[in-house]
Amino acid sequence: MMAGIQIISFIFISSVLLHTHSADDTYFATMPQTVTALTGSCVQIPCTFNISDFEDKHKKSESINGIWLKNKSQFADSDGFIAFNSSKNTIRGFSDIQITGNLSERNCTTVFYNIMKNHSDFYYFRLEMEPNVFRATFNPNQPDSIKTVNITVRDSPQPPELKPNDKHSVMENTTVNLSCSAEAPCPKQPPTISWSNIPESAHITTQLQEKHDKTLSVFSHMTFKASYMDHRKNISCTATYPRKTLEDLTVETPVMLRVLFPPKETHIFITPSASVSVGTNVTLTCKSKASPSNDMNYTWYNHGQEMPITRGKKISFIVTHNNTGSYFCIAQNKHGNQSSAEIQLTVEGERGFFYRVIFGCTGALLAFVLLSAIFFYCMRTNKSSQDHVIGRDQATDKNSDMAIYANSSSVSNKKSEKKENDGLHYGEIDFSRLQMGNMTREHSNNGPQTVYAEIQMTGKNIKKTVEQMDSKI
Ligand SMILES: *[C@@H]1O[C@H](CO)[C@@H](O)[C@H](O)[C@H]1NC(C)=O
Ligand SMILES: *[C@@H]1O[C@H](CO)[C@@H](O)[C@H](O)[C@H]1NC(C)=O
Ligand SMILES: *[C@@H]1O[C@H](CO)[C@@H](O)[C@H](O)[C@H]1NC(C)=O
Ligand SMILES: *[C@@H]1O[C@H](CO)[C@@H](O)[C@H](O)[C@H]1NC(C)=O
Ligand SMILES: *[C@@H]1O[C@H](CO)[C@@H](O)[C@H](O)[C@H]1NC(C)=O
Ligand SMILES: *[C@@H]1O[C@H](CO)[C@@H](O)[C@H](O)[C@H]1NC(C)=O
Repeated sequence: MMAGIQIISFIFISSVLLHTHSADDTYFATMPQTVTALTGSCVQIPCTFNISDFEDKHKKSESINGIWLKNKSQFADSDGFIAFNSSKNTIRGFSDIQITGNLSERNCTTVFYNIMKNHSDFYYFRLEMEPNVFRATFNPNQPDSIKTVNITVRDSPQPPELKPNDKHSVMENTTVNLSCSAEAPCPKQPPTISWSNIPESAHITTQLQEKHDKTLSVFSHMTFKASYMDHRKNISCTATYPRKTLEDLTVETPVMLRVLFPPKETHIFITPSASVSVGTNVTLTCKSKASPSNDMNYTWYNHGQEMPITRGKKISFIVTHNNTGSYFCIAQNKHGNQSSAEIQLTVEGERGFFYRVIFGCTGALLAFVLLSAIFFYCMRTNKSSQDHVIGRDQATDKNSDMAIYANSSSVSNKKSEKKENDGLHYGEIDFSRLQMGNMTREHSNNGPQTVYAEIQMTGKNIKKTVEQMDSKI
């Protein structure tokens, strides 16, 4: 079936070619089927023609004229008219028309200036080689060849063509080529192309290029390495058409780039804050940029622990002293994963401060009470002593030291202190009493009378007692 059609069409084409070649005056013109012109601008019709024995005919003729017929190939027809006759440069319905091609070189390229809406039509080219060498309107009756050009006039240009289009997604770090083309119907006033949202690494080249039908377009090529920063960026190509009398026209075509990449900029967002009081409902949110982002996985970890705590974009919990510490999350999509920096969740604020104040005050108060008690005790027990006056001052000094020793409960320190102050008995006595006071609570069988007995002893004896008491502890 297909073969049959092919054979038939082959025979048909062959017969047409044979027919035209065998005819004495074969002639044809080549021009685009349609051109789109912009109001207020010009339009160039690229055009070439050929006639059998053109060189001979050219030699025989005195003049060679190009004629453009509007709407009808028959110039006598009432619906159409002769828009241009190069013989006497007659122009009708247009402000200016110029055949810029050299007719002697079979180039019938023509520019129509100051295009208006009513210029939209079919135009036929006619050649007249005078005197009476060749006169014909090109290929009006041959169905298989281009015989006319359709000029379409628009008030605003068509948006530039941008390739590839939106559906295109590219992997991060791959090279992307975008090409933008804007028709240049009037080559003397070609559009200028500009890009917006240009990626950082972009390299752009722009040039005027001929298309297959010989019409011109401005082509701009942009090459860049896809970065995740370019994801969902609307890169657009803008064509600006300058016009002589009217204002410039601007058209633009955007393309939204889809860049595929593994998670980036992963970080934890914490509400209400990273430093909260116990009992606060804290929410940690793992935020990350990735593409695609619909199949994201988030995993939460504690510092130094291999096992994840939980999964999910957000975690919420009531803060206790137990769940403070370092947290981090790992975001993952099908192209890879990324870990966030660790965040430190601390218990801070009113309660912590309050406790510290309470402990501090209680401690100070306790020390003061003890000191006072000791002081009065000394006053009473040493009323008859010779060292009374001196002892009182030094005892006060000693007492402050001893309060510290009592806290650190280090025997060796106490001993060395005692050696240094061997002559001062008050200190020793007071100290041992202090230790006893603590111990009696735990060892109730050791009555305070032991202390009493030792108090009257010399420094050496007291040391012994202290050692005994420590070993009991
Ligand atoms: C073009 O102009 C020449 C000279 O005026 C004239 O002889 C010729 O007939 C014109 N052609 C047409 C198609 O009107
Ligand atoms: C188009 O319209 C203008 C006036 O608006 C007129 O001068 C001109 O002849 C018309 N051209 C054609 C080809 O109809
Ligand atoms: C025809 O002439 C035009 C205008 O001068 C020129 O731009 C074009 O290259 C020529 N075409 C050919 C095939 O020589
Ligand atoms: C990009 O363009 C699309 C459609 O033209 C629009 O919906 C979107 O908001 C634009 N994005 C940005 C970031 O401008
Ligand atoms: C903590 O807050 C989150 C979000 O506001 C809520 O979903 C959750 O139920 C709260 N948790 C408790 C224990 O109130
Ligand atoms: C805190 O941890 C300790 C031991 O690790 C546990 O005994 C206690 O129940 C925990 N408290 C809370 C509120 O989870």
